[in-house]
Amino acid sequence: MPVSSIIHIRQLNKYIDTQEQKVFVLCDSNSYKHCFHILQEHLPGSLIPIKVKTGESQKNLVTCTYIWEQLIKNKAQKDAVLINLGGGVISDIGGFSASTYKRGISYYNIPTTLLAMVDAAIGGKTGFNFGHLKNIIGIIQNPEKVVLHPGFLESLPERHIINGFAEMIKHALIDGQQQTNKILSVTNVRDYLTQTNIFENIRVKQKIVHRDLHEKDLRKILNLGHTIGHAIEYAALKNKKKILHGEAVAWGLIVMLRMSVAKLQFNQSKAEKIIDFIKKHYSKPAWLQLYRKDILAALIHDKKNTRLNINMVLLKDIGDARYNVVCTNDEIGKIWRSI
Ligand code: GLY
Repeated sequence: MPVSSIIHIRQLNKYIDTQEQKVFVLCDSNSYKHCFHILQEHLPGSLIPIKVKTGESQKNLVTCTYIWEQLIKNKAQKDAVLINLGGGVISDIGGFSASTYKRGISYYNIPTTLLAMVDAAIGGKTGFNFGHLKNIIGIIQNPEKVVLHPGFLESLPERHIINGFAEMIKHALIDGQQQTNKILSVTNVRDYLTQTNIFENIRVKQKIVHRDLHEKDLRKILNLGHTIGHAIEYAALKNKKKILHGEAVAWGLIVMLRMSVAKLQFNQSKAEKIIDFIKKHYSKPAWLQLYRKDILAALIHDKKNTRLNINMVLLKDIGDARYNVVCTNDEIGKIWRSI
């Protein structure tokens, strides 16, 4: 099954039978408080919540162990179902725990943040952090279904809306001119988040995952903006600054666009138009230039690299992303000064 189908939360009771199956719901304190009762309305019957604390720090083996213990304690058999109700941390650890319990039980992702709706919940990446290494242990195993309820976004703070929007910009650039033009005309991000627009955006990722689930080649293009984005996140962590993933990716996209002009002759005025749009929505952290050295040093550890080359995903044109474009630290450093 290379890709999971997406359904609306209203359809969930067609696929899960709470009379026949034991249904577990993994949630963190936020999703339990704001979203669990909505799920219960759509899926009446007995749901067994497994509650964990909120945050990336929970994405570890200890939390997975706790989930397995709860499944064992409640006598979950092979036909049990785990519903992951939450953001990316929940789908990562829940997906991993379900896929390894009794060699795999079904799991469903119900993303409650925009970032998870358009990215983390799609494509079957699961796992956890180990030591200082992010996502170092995990497997790719698709959920049975991805279940959408755009209404969850209503209670999401503005900063988290903008956070997820960065991945939508990325998908539009990968997809082509039409979706990019639509995104570039957005003035109010919340107004743009209709079910149709969210589904259209998700489909970009689904098409790619369908062709290359295990990221042997094509799926690498979904890392557009992420080489620099991850390095920015690393520098923020090292220097005790706070930046959300999508905010770092947005600045990663800016660097990627200028690199694309320099390396692949991407049209400069097109690039600058997109950069202006991104800058309108993402203010520049005051410390961004200050930690230039840390950011450039972090690039060399990116998992897409081979030896000392930095392999970036760049755009030849909108809708024409190229992966494994070899770049040097010096080239990126020069562009970095220009942002
Ligand atoms: N977030 C990129 C991927 O799932 O491949």
